[in-house]
This record gives sequence, C-alpha cells and structure tokens, in this order.
Amino acid sequence: MSIEKVVIPVAGLGTRLLPATKSQPKEMLPVGRKPVVQYVVEEMIDQGLEKIMFITGRDKRSIEDHFDRDPELLAHLSQAGEERLFNGSGYDENTRFFYTRQIIPKDRQTPGGLGAAIAMAHDFVSEEHFVVALGDTIIRSGNHAGLVRRMIKSHEAKDAACTIAVVEVEEDEVNQYGIVHPVGRGRTDFEIDGIVEKPSPSDAPSRLAVAGRYIFSSEIFSALERTSPGYQGEIQLTDAIRILIKMGHTVRCIRLKKDEHRYDIGNPESYYRAFIDFAISDQQYGYRIRQYFQQRLRSF
Ligand code: UTP
Repeated sequence: MSIEKVVIPVAGLGTRLLPATKSQPKEMLPVGRKPVVQYVVEEMIDQGLEKIMFITGRDKRSIEDHFDRDPELLAHLSQAGEERLFNGSGYDENTRFFYTRQIIPKDRQTPGGLGAAIAMAHDFVSEEHFVVALGDTIIRSGNHAGLVRRMIKSHEAKDAACTIAVVEVEEDEVNQYGIVHPVGRGRTDFEIDGIVEKPSPSDAPSRLAVAGRYIFSSEIFSALERTSPGYQGEIQLTDAIRILIKMGHTVRCIRLKKDEHRYDIGNPESYYRAFIDFAISDQQYGYRIRQYFQQRLRSF
C-alpha cells in the first residue's frame, strides 16, 4: 500500500471568525507571513505527498488562485530584481492540485458538514487509502519525522481503516473537538473503541482531541453513506468514524509529540494565539516583536 493522495476540505463558512471571513476564506487568513492553507500544503509536500485535492465551496476561489502559477507577478518581480519574493509563494511545479466543489444541499443554506465534504473525494481516491488535512489547522513540528509520515507508517503496519492524529487538550477545551476513547492507556500509538463530537467535560471519554490530520481507507465512504445528520444538522466526520468502528474496522490514533503543536485557527482566540506564536518566532522580526510584547505587557 502506498499513500499518495491528500484531501484538504476548505468549504466551511468560517462563521466563528466573522466578519473577517465574510468575503474571504478563513483558510486564506494570514498567520505570520503565509495564509493558513499554505502551511497545510507545504506540510503535505514535505511528507512526500504530491496529489492534493481541495474540497472548495462558494467564495473560495482565492485558494485556487493562490496555488496557481502567476507569470505576470513573476515577470514583474524579476524586472524589479525581487524574484526572491516569489519563492515559497504557494505554487509548486511538482505538485498536482485538484479541485471539487461542495455544493450546498437543496434543503440547507449552509454546507452539509465535514463528513459531506470528505464524501466528495470518493472519485479522486477511488479504492486507495488517503490523507485528510483540515485546511484551517496548522501542525508545527520540531526536528523529527513528520506527523503524517508517522501516521502512514503506523496505518500500514497495523492495517488500519483509519488513523487519527490526536493531542491532549485542557478539560475546558474538550467541548470544542472530537474526543477519542482509547483502548488501554492511549500513549503514543493506540487503538480506540469510541469517538464523540464536542462532549461536555463530564461526558468526555478522555482529553485526547482530534488534531486535524487523518488517514482513511475507502471504507470511510460506506460509513459516510450510513451517517445521518448530527450536530447542527451536518454530516459529522466523527460520527462516520464511530460507524467505522461499529462496522468492525480498526481505528487507531497517533499522539502529537511534545514539540509538535496544533493550531486550529477556527475561532478568534486560537487565531490570535497562532499569529502571536508565529510572529514571535519570525526569523527576521521575532526578536523585535518579543521586545515589543514585553514592553506592552508592562503597561497592562
Ligand atoms: P470547521 O467546522 O472548523 O469549519 O471545519 P467551519 O464550518 O468553516 O467553521 P464555523 O463553525 O462556521 O466557524 C474544519 C474544516 O473543514 C472544512 C472547513 O472549511 C475547515 O477547513 N469544512 C467544514 C468543509 O470543507 N465543509 C463543511 O461543510 C464544513
């Protein structure tokens, strides 16, 4: 088995970040110097994955433009002797980008949910195993084998139908994420027998939250077909994973390492945190931004 395809869903409305997301995708909001989704794409390319499908939606055209070659901009920058500004600007000639659109169902005014978005990828991946990387979640790694590569290794070795990246969150944060129920102690690489979407702290089966990276076999599409609308009337990917477990498939988790950080930029607080972390560690400006923070905090 060799996994080479990635699905990046970016069709959500980003309502928690309104009005910033009224006419631009939340996945295109900058964190530090790049739009969020560029970090996601670069992470995938870095892991050796070069076939990427975006599940897009209304008002998401700027994502397609961002990953396209821009000859006029390149010509302009080379005339000005500033080609270096073009490097790392999103386009990558070795990567093949595919796009499909998540149509809003007739009986709804909003997209049908993350599960419905993933269901759109069936023709693209066919019977292959594939990676799902949420377009609003950055994973920042230290100096070791990347998270997705570790996930693929484990997924293949354990013959899993689904492998999920998870990270421990605070008790008062469990109601923001899908939370898994490990079989056993749930250390670094473990099987789960349950998963729930946004539980209250008293109902949460653990503090291990889904961290925006998954690997699936094509069995997920049968599970999605059996999934009824759940939270907010949406087809929840978490519910489909629970059905996958009930169907008797192996679902496992890989825990993020201590120096791997998950930034889900979907709400204002997590967006601020992400921006601050990237700003204070910017190679050129980080030192001065840290000084600025210290100065500002003294007067608070
Ligand atoms: P979220 O649920 O965090 O995004 O989905 P959202 O729906 O845009 O957020 P709010 O609640 O309105 O603020 C995580 C990822 O899945 C995509 C989103 O674009 C985001 O990158 N998504 C979500 C879809 O592609 N389709 C959907 O129907 C829902």
